[in-house]
Amino acid sequence: MTGIPPTIEWLEGGTVRMIDQRLLPGRLAFVDARTVDELCDAIRTLAIRGAPALGVAGAMGMALAAVTGEPPDDAAHRLLATRPTAVNLAWGVARGRRAEDPVAEAVRLASDDVARNRRLGAHGAPLIPVGGRVLTHCNAGALACAGYGTALGVVRAAHEAGRRPTVWVDETRPVLQGARLTAWELDRLGIPGRLVADVMAGPLMAGGEVDCVIVGADRIAANGDVANKVGTYGLAVLARYHGIPFYVAAPLSTVDGQCPTGASIPIERRSPAEVTSFGGLVTAPAGFPAENRAFDVTPAALVTAIVTEAGVLRPPFALQSVGVIS
Ligand code: MRU
Repeated sequence: MTGIPPTIEWLEGGTVRMIDQRLLPGRLAFVDARTVDELCDAIRTLAIRGAPALGVAGAMGMALAAVTGEPPDDAAHRLLATRPTAVNLAWGVARGRRAEDPVAEAVRLASDDVARNRRLGAHGAPLIPVGGRVLTHCNAGALACAGYGTALGVVRAAHEAGRRPTVWVDETRPVLQGARLTAWELDRLGIPGRLVADVMAGPLMAGGEVDCVIVGADRIAANGDVANKVGTYGLAVLARYHGIPFYVAAPLSTVDGQCPTGASIPIERRSPAEVTSFGGLVTAPAGFPAENRAFDVTPAALVTAIVTEAGVLRPPFALQSVGVIS
């Protein structure tokens, strides 16, 4: 089977159905949540992940609370406690919370996400030179959204426009979203890509083999500082050193105008076990300490442009009035 099914959808009767991303690339299977707690568990364990997908999940969580009769404040609190960095989660929860019909709002946000990503892709595609070699990090594709993708959506739009992009796929330690998810998506979409260890970005850029870097974002501060998967900051520094454009692709729901700079973005700390083992295989001495920060912050000064559904934003960024969560 080819194509990519919806990452997350609402089924009549009160079920949130999600692609179980913990099982990819080995198996395409789905996980259902019928309660807020089940959804929180899916978010925490990365069955569903990626900022825009978490936004939709937040709204669907509030829809579940409405259907099951859970107190909305308590449901919102538990949803927000799952993962702190992607502001889309808070945005989706806020949208669901203030909706008169939270189910209709969640369904609307899911289809709206795909439409926004298509617009974002159309704005970004011309940034990729014909035959361009794009380097990306983590997974900012259909799996990270309700569908289509942001950074990978730009690549996808360029591919659909006949620009023949090829993709260097960072494997993305420690959870391997690049190897497991981005490579899986590219394979299904028929877009040529090549998987590399994260540490190969430097030699690739030095060798003139990268035309641009495109990544997604989990939260963008008012001054344009960008929180994204750990490793992004290093890529931006490398790109600047080598004179390569560094693009961030994200919907406006990822902008947190209330965060003045990246310094106030909360960075999620995940279990050290993600660093000391993989797939049940222990890769470090027993008991050896490990640090696992899931995201880093790239200063706005290193960002060439931010691609949104409203167009391509160039520095200086002044996003105070965007994405305000009331
Ligand atoms: O920990 P994850 O897999 O949720 O991290 C995801 C990322 O860092 C993505 O790059 C980001 O959410 C943008 S997704 C369009």
